[in-house]
Amino acid sequence: MSFAGKKAAVDALVDVNLTIPENCFISIIGRSGCGKSTLLRIISNLIPPTKGEVHIHGLPSAAYQRRKRFGFVFQEASLFAWKTVYQNVELPLEIMGLGSAAQRREKVLDLLHLVRLDGFADHYPAQLSGGMRQRVAIARALSYEPDILLMDEPFGALDDFTRREMHDELIRIWNARGLTVVFVTHSLSEALYLSDRIVVMAPRPGRVKSIVPVLRPRISDPTLRATPDYIHQLQELEALIHEQ
Ligand SMILES: Nc1ncnc2c1ncn2[C@@H]1O[C@H](COP(=O)(O)OP(=O)(O)O)[C@@H](O)[C@H]1O
Ligand SMILES: [Mg+2]
Repeated sequence: MSFAGKKAAVDALVDVNLTIPENCFISIIGRSGCGKSTLLRIISNLIPPTKGEVHIHGLPSAAYQRRKRFGFVFQEASLFAWKTVYQNVELPLEIMGLGSAAQRREKVLDLLHLVRLDGFADHYPAQLSGGMRQRVAIARALSYEPDILLMDEPFGALDDFTRREMHDELIRIWNARGLTVVFVTHSLSEALYLSDRIVVMAPRPGRVKSIVPVLRPRISDPTLRATPDYIHQLQELEALIHEQ
């Protein structure tokens, strides 16, 4: 991907060759400006790459998108302040005209249950904590049943305790829904705790530096964070990201 710059073109991504298995939880890490968000935008067909292509289940991304939507969650929950939790989650379904009001209601309540917000349907975003707002954003992203959930630093604005809680929630949701998750972060420990596989990117030009398999079971278990294996792998990642 190259963007036209004032003087010269900016190579945001060069030679990216990446295969993401179905049902995988993959994290993309790297410092600011190495093309992580650009890569998510290209995967989800928000911007066309200047060269190359993305295939999903054998279809070009644009064709895939006509069949199935991508779920997207950003750093800011970007909820509508004047709509309730219920209305925020229902909105995409309403816009796409999916289901009757009764069917939508069943789905929205089911999603609120999934993200453990039963009883908060009538609250407004301002009445919720940051973690709860991100749960609403996740419920909304799942409302049209995507197979693929793209997350761009979704927990970046949360405090450490809430962030860890959200990690366990996300692993649970990922398993419950059989999703493929592409998760952008610049936190190594976050990537390590969540992922099956970590794509390490480097800047100028943005490129994939290495792909690291994670040696851990797919469960949420906070005690893992203190095991020698986990700490060892974190150190290895640390070294990898600092050597340029
Ligand atoms: N729409 C755009 N126009 C011009 N340059 C862009 C645009 N989007 C991103 N870039 C540039 O591409 C590079 C990668 O950006 P980005 O994907 O946002 O990185 P990251 O998410 O890893 O921080 C940066 O140098 C950025 O300035
Ligand atoms: Mg970004």
